Amino acid sequence: MTNPAKILIVFGTRPEAIKLFPVIRALEVDPRFRPVVCVSAQHRQMLDQVLEIAGIVPDHDLNLMQPGQTLDSLTALLLTRLGAVMDAAQPERVIVQGDTATAMAGALAAYYRKIPVDHVEAGLRSGNIYHPWPEEVNRKIIGSIASLHFAPTAVAAGKLLAEQVPADRVHVTGNTVIDALKWVQTRIVAKPALAGDLADLERLFAGRRIIGVTSHRRENFGEGMANIAQAIRQIAVRQDVAVIFPVHLNPNVRAVMNQALGGLSNVALIEPLDYPHFVRLLSIAEIMLTDSGGVQEEAPALGKPVLVMRETTERPEGVSAGTARLVGTDATRIVTELFNLLDDKAAYEAMARAHNPFGDGQSAGRIVELIGNEIGHKA
Ligand code: UD1
Ligand code: UDP
Repeated sequence: MTNPAKILIVFGTRPEAIKLFPVIRALEVDPRFRPVVCVSAQHRQMLDQVLEIAGIVPDHDLNLMQPGQTLDSLTALLLTRLGAVMDAAQPERVIVQGDTATAMAGALAAYYRKIPVDHVEAGLRSGNIYHPWPEEVNRKIIGSIASLHFAPTAVAAGKLLAEQVPADRVHVTGNTVIDALKWVQTRIVAKPALAGDLADLERLFAGRRIIGVTSHRRENFGEGMANIAQAIRQIAVRQDVAVIFPVHLNPNVRAVMNQALGGLSNVALIEPLDYPHFVRLLSIAEIMLTDSGGVQEEAPALGKPVLVMRETTERPEGVSAGTARLVGTDATRIVTELFNLLDDKAAYEAMARAHNPFGDGQSAGRIVELIGNEIGHKA
């Protein structure tokens, strides 16, 4: 057998780590590959929570996160620092995931060195460059660079084909988030204490109907965030509900939420949960209210209705299946839709069907096989 191919996996945020750890684990056990992990640490604490649970020790940690970082300062740093890692490591290929600044700069730095880029979660498009912002453009840049495009669904693959990406470069693999979700569920069954600490909140809120909330989108900063906070205040007027809201560490989110929601007895603003605990929150919540991408994929898989606080989504599969609904960021609309689900059993049951258009939990294996075929190394 030829020497194992050195593959550099580049990521920096919580969702990238969740969606790439299954790929890293699959590469690690395959003798055709020598995976090298580089984290930009665009996120710090929220990234480390995932690295720890997944048992990933990076080979390169650029530790780039700055409090309140701007898009241009972050991107400038990422490009030069990731480029330097590529010059030192000399990988045969680079893997990036999704649409963050790290993924975009990683793809660009690889392109500047003519290193082929493999894109995990390729082809998501909202059709609006400001929703989500800046992710829509980040993923289009990566899409124009990538060698292999691993689309999670046929819808995503179709978007790439419509952009004239050659069909033999596009593969529908499922989304690795389902691999991660299944892996962590298995771990929780084996060791329930991994996801045990929410019990305090569960005791505190016993008898109430739990609404899980996450929010962090840049395009929602300002008015959107204020509206979301206002909606949660109105929801909390109902004493039969309790809101559990792990607040993203972005100061633009925390300042608004702490000011608007601190002190409400049935709203728990808590620190970001590690992945097993967040999966527990998904399992005890009756409804998820979110602007997150990953949560739109996980909640339908667990049969939890999702109200998506965005104007558009690049994940139409949940909406088409009836398990997710776009509600925008207007406070009245959010509250009306949520109360409707709480009070109309038939409407709730219609949305609360376990539905999983995003993958079967075998995506990472498929991706690794396709990269193996591409480099021509046979096991
Ligand atoms: C980033 C991604 C977004 C992704 C999201 C997932 C970009 C431009 N944005 O947005 O696509 O959906 O992550 O959560 O790539 N912070 C901490 N500790 C952490 C993480 C963040 O303190 O562990 C704070 C810091 O002040 C940091 C700020 O949050 O400057 C913003 O982080 P950044 O990665 O720039 O943006 P996100 O809003 O997290
Ligand atoms: N998540 C987590 N802890 C939390 C909130 C979210 O582990 O407190 C996970 C969630 O299960 C999903 C991912 O983080 O897999 C989503 O990350 P985020 O919302 O930050 O980013 P997005 O998916 O919108 O890019």
